[in-house]
Amino acid sequence: MPFQYDLAEPLLQVKDVHLQLGGKQILAGVNAEVRNITRPGLTQGQVVGFLGPSGVGKTQLFNLMAGLDPAAKDAKVSGEILVAVSGSDQLVPVKRGLAGVVAQDYRLFEHRTVLSNLMVAARKGGYTKQEAKVECVALLERFGLRDRASFYPCQLSGGQRQRVAIAQQLLCSTTVLLMDEPFSGLDPVMVDQVAKLINEVSALDEHMTIVVVTHDVSAAISVSDTLWLMGRDHDASGAIIPGARIQDTYNLIDMDLAWHPDIQAMPAFHDLVREVKLRFRTL
Ligand SMILES: Nc1ncnc2c1ncn2[C@@H]1O[C@H](COP(=O)(O)OP(=O)(O)OP(=O)(O)O)[C@@H](O)[C@H]1O
Ligand SMILES: [Mg+2]
Repeated sequence: MPFQYDLAEPLLQVKDVHLQLGGKQILAGVNAEVRNITRPGLTQGQVVGFLGPSGVGKTQLFNLMAGLDPAAKDAKVSGEILVAVSGSDQLVPVKRGLAGVVAQDYRLFEHRTVLSNLMVAARKGGYTKQEAKVECVALLERFGLRDRASFYPCQLSGGQRQRVAIAQQLLCSTTVLLMDEPFSGLDPVMVDQVAKLINEVSALDEHMTIVVVTHDVSAAISVSDTLWLMGRDHDASGAIIPGARIQDTYNLIDMDLAWHPDIQAMPAFHDLVREVKLRFRTL
């Protein structure tokens, strides 16, 4: 029996986004929405696995969702991306700093300690010095980093760095967290650990919305409640029509493939991995 849940108010909306770079259509009519998932008696955040072939436009959309303007001078963008902000029930157009971005290289201030890195983020997030200290210490505790507070980033493992980078973003942005390729270059045990961490972070706040861009179909399905598949359309002769959009959205909750700690032991999980990989070839 699938879990009981409801979809409440929207938290993130991508509305008819088009993007041209160098006269080339990259995105054409991207529409997507994340709504607040509510479960009786639980704080349940949202996790979207965002998949698509290489070069299709995932990072471009990711950057727009982060409120970043495309680097190219000749870029043409249209459409709207709206996000929820704490303390308001209105969605607002996204701008730089509203959504947290955990980039692949987990950028930290190398000359500052772990605690000091977090303090900078918390102050940026509007906490007073005293509140900031309390929040940072609580997050270090939660992420198993308390005994690393006075370490410098170069003294951390890859996984510890990633946790500091996530904690940093949680302190200074709203509840949207964008993660670019968090599973790449990790061994299978680490992939499972990062998936677990993403689920833990998503349970920190009812409104927490995490979008994970990845090429790892299995990891995406194990960690998400929703999948977005980005791709381009084809004409009658099978040629690609430039401009990508979200072609398919999978609701993994209704498929009873969300929120199971032992999901990889479920035959339906492997069936879906296979189905998504096949679908990939047509995108
Ligand atoms: N300045 C530019 N001018 C023209 N095309 C560009 C420019 N910058 C990026 N592109 C094109 O935009 C497309 C989308 O790139 P994007 O980085 O979003 O792909 P992606 O889906 O993230 O791929 P990957 O999975 O490999 O990271 C690519 O085909 C790329 O060549
Ligand atoms: Mg990319």
